[in-house]
Amino acid sequence: MAIFLEILSWTTMFLLFLIFILFLGYCLYVNHIHMKYDHIPGPPRDSFLFGHAATYVRATRNGEIIYDKFLEWAENHGPVCRQNFLHYVVLLVTCPEGTKEVLMSPKYPKDRFFYSQIFNLFGQRFLGEGLVTALDHEQWYKQRRIMDPAFSSLYLRGLTGTFNERAEKLMTTLSDVADNQTEASMLHLVNSLTLDVIAKVAFGVDLEQLKDRSRFPKAVQTCLKGMLLTVRDSFYKFNPKNRAFIKEVREACHLLRTTGAQWIQDRKTAMENGDDVPNDILTQIIKTAGKEESMTEEDEELMLDNFVTFFIAGHETTANQLAFCIMELARLPDILEKVRKEVDDVIGMKQDITCDDLGKLTYLSQVLKETLRIYPTAPGTSREIQEDIVIDGIHIPGGVTCFFSSYVTGRMDKFFKDPLTFDPDRFHEDAPRPYYCYFPFALGPRSCLGKNFAQMEAKVVMAKLLQRFDFTLLPGQTFDLEDCGTLRPKSAVVCSVRHRNCDK
Ligand code: HEM
Repeated sequence: MAIFLEILSWTTMFLLFLIFILFLGYCLYVNHIHMKYDHIPGPPRDSFLFGHAATYVRATRNGEIIYDKFLEWAENHGPVCRQNFLHYVVLLVTCPEGTKEVLMSPKYPKDRFFYSQIFNLFGQRFLGEGLVTALDHEQWYKQRRIMDPAFSSLYLRGLTGTFNERAEKLMTTLSDVADNQTEASMLHLVNSLTLDVIAKVAFGVDLEQLKDRSRFPKAVQTCLKGMLLTVRDSFYKFNPKNRAFIKEVREACHLLRTTGAQWIQDRKTAMENGDDVPNDILTQIIKTAGKEESMTEEDEELMLDNFVTFFIAGHETTANQLAFCIMELARLPDILEKVRKEVDDVIGMKQDITCDDLGKLTYLSQVLKETLRIYPTAPGTSREIQEDIVIDGIHIPGGVTCFFSSYVTGRMDKFFKDPLTFDPDRFHEDAPRPYYCYFPFALGPRSCLGKNFAQMEAKVVMAKLLQRFDFTLLPGQTFDLEDCGTLRPKSAVVCSVRHRNCDK
């Protein structure tokens, strides 16, 4: 027995020694990384090992906007600003040439450090290898080529009818709000609307979210929150106090994926029965997988990855943009008057807004662009730099992540004078075009596939809203943002609504 205990204690000591040596080795490696990249300016690290992680964790836990910290760092440390986490190095790049070089080229893949973290959320597959998160260029390119037809200008023109029809339902809801003199959270209403639109247009399903609130908006919010915590707070999952929320996140992901599986199955059955099915996003998603006979389990999962990708990307950011836009117009009467006059001149009291009408609503386009400058609802993107590169005269050894944020550049005085002033004339056709410092839809090959879809939809909704209603923000609302993975107005833009001209 004594010999056995002695062997055990020697084994334990040996294991502890081994762990110590490994830890020491890892610390030396982290030190080597610091030496390799510390010539790049950056704020002081919170700690040797965890680098700047404490700042992210603090911001996430306090509900702060981490991009404000990034803005401060970019202003203080220049166009390439280093951040560390363990042996990872992330560079916040704000110089236009660097942004152009990296984002416009297919040479730099999306970075593993960030995107692989949202493959799963707490062990439940989430965005997997769908269009937003696919890392392998070939695999991404194959998916994107198949999806393109569902976003061609011809196809989008054909969607104007659905945008109009669904937006009319929002107008009916707002009409009730006005008649009953109640208040409405514009964020929640436009979120229901954009969810209805994407369900109809992308998947051929009538959700009628504006009438019957389903579990989906809550599930989407929960997934996004889970995504934020996964990326920003590496220790979150280890805290037993967070188990209940982690379970919620897993269930929310599961709900979205099982819904996808059901809708895909329904569509396949319709196809097998020879029914007339639309050439919509769901049809394209089914095409991204292999042929029925050779379909593997991974193909099935990829279809669900893209289902969840379009379900979320296809409505959340547009709803937030609309809500920010309404918030700004509600506090800027001159701009409101100008954009309303344009709407009156172009569409009058007409209900069916055509693509040609949309093309004529140029000031409204400027307003929507300016909204995304101050409030880019998807605030950043990142790329992996595998080989050495020079940005703004700084030599950057390969093996880092570069992060680009339209939130940061959109709020820098050197790119936009008085950046916090909402001024749609910055996007007037005669004004100089922003040079690689405004990219709310990202740039280059991995830019947003739904950009034109989103802006057509947003214009139809705003035009109808301006055509028919006056809206006033209820007192006590903040104009703050909330970071929920995407950015949204914290006070949810609660307004009282009146029929236009009724009580003037
Ligand atoms: C105001 C609305 C929108 C904004 C601000 C926005 C912004 C963005 C941004 C910044 C990216 C790059 C993400 C990254 O690099 O991680 C992106 C990608 C993407 N977005 Fe959007 N988006 C919007 C609406 C939409 C809509 C309506 C759809 C679909 C109907 C959509 C589908 C996609 C897809 C599929 C990608 C991945 C593209 C690729 O990598 O090939 N987005 N979006």
